[in-house]
Order: sequence, then C-alpha cells, then structure tokens
Amino acid sequence: MNADAKKTVLRMIPYGIYVLTADDGQGNIAAATVNWVTQSAFAPPLVVVGVKADSGSYQIVKAAKTFALNMLGKDQKSLAFTFFRPADVKEGKLSGQPFHKGSTGAPILTDAPGAVECRVSSIVEHGDHHIVIGEVVEAHLNKPLSGRPDAAILEMKDLGDNVFYGG
Ligand SMILES: Cc1cc2nc3c(=O)[nH]c(=O)nc-3n(C[C@H](O)[C@H](O)[C@H](O)COP(=O)(O)O)c2cc1C
Repeated sequence: MNADAKKTVLRMIPYGIYVLTADDGQGNIAAATVNWVTQSAFAPPLVVVGVKADSGSYQIVKAAKTFALNMLGKDQKSLAFTFFRPADVKEGKLSGQPFHKGSTGAPILTDAPGAVECRVSSIVEHGDHHIVIGEVVEAHLNKPLSGRPDAAILEMKDLGDNVFYGG
C-alpha cells in the first residue's frame, strides 16, 4: 500500500467536532475533543465513537458506562482546542467551561448548541482506538438552530489547513 495515498484518501472523510464527556462517579471526569463519531442505527438510536485506548477518557467512559457527545457550533473552534488537552474541574467549571450534569451524570457543556447522552451498549476492542457503541438515552438542544442541523456543527476543515485526525 502507498502510505501517502492511504493518508490522503482517508483524510477525504469529512468529520464533525465533538467533546466527549463522562463522569465515573469516583471523582474522575473526562472531556476530550473527538471526531471519529457517527450514528449507526435508528432503533435503538445508536452512535459510535472511536476512543483512544490508552487515553484517560477511555478509562473513564468504560468505568462510567455512560457518556455524552457535546456538539460544537461553527464558531467554537477555541473550545475544540481547549479539550485537546486533558481536562480539569476547577471552581465548578470543566477546563474553564460552564457545565451541568445530565441525567446519566455525564457533563453537558452549557455553551454547546446540543448534546446527546448515551449508555455504553458495547465496545469493540480492535486497534489503537476502540469503538464505543452508545445508545442515545437523552438529548439536549441548548440553543435553537436555524437551517440544517449539520450546517451548524464545527467541522475538521474549520480547524485549520494543518489539523487532521485520520489518515
Ligand atoms: C483534531 C483532533 C481530533 C481528535 N479526535 C479524537 C478522536 O476521535 N478520538 C479520540 O479518542 N481522541 C481524539 N483526539 C485526541 C483527544 O482530543 C486527546 O487525546 C484528549 O483530549 C487527551 O485527553 P485524555 O488523554 O485525558 O483523554 C483528537 C485530537 C485532535 C487534535
């Protein structure tokens, strides 16, 4: 296989940008910017997320058995960069961002236009990222959207010419 072709062609896949959050109830809170996300079923509503197997966030999602996907808005590039770094909770804020706990306990970012909460239904352990399959059990529309919902999301291509995750 030609390594350059593999990288370039895989980078043709378009991605939205999300903040994956989870709270294991033992004082550990995860919040990581992710892009390897898609819906995978209508009934039940399922989403899948590729989560770095050696990350702190993965351990917390596994222990919590629940997580949230906070959808970032078109103008929230700086929030994406905030959660590329390990998260901290100080003075009731998550890496400086206001949040509240959802019904699953997962942090919901107040400023994200929308979020879904999921129960982990299974995990496929294959490769350096594991596929976490979540059943959507709660949805939050924090702000009214105008136009197509998929036009409102921050996308990988909005992060700059040299930012990729994939290839
Ligand atoms: C552009 C970009 C996209 C990313 N997408 C993912 C992803 O889909 N899945 C993932 O597990 N990590 C992804 N990451 C890495 C996480 O953001 C990062 O590992 C995490 O925030 C570090 O915190 P943690 O180790 O405490 O979880 C991405 C990083 C960048 C720069």
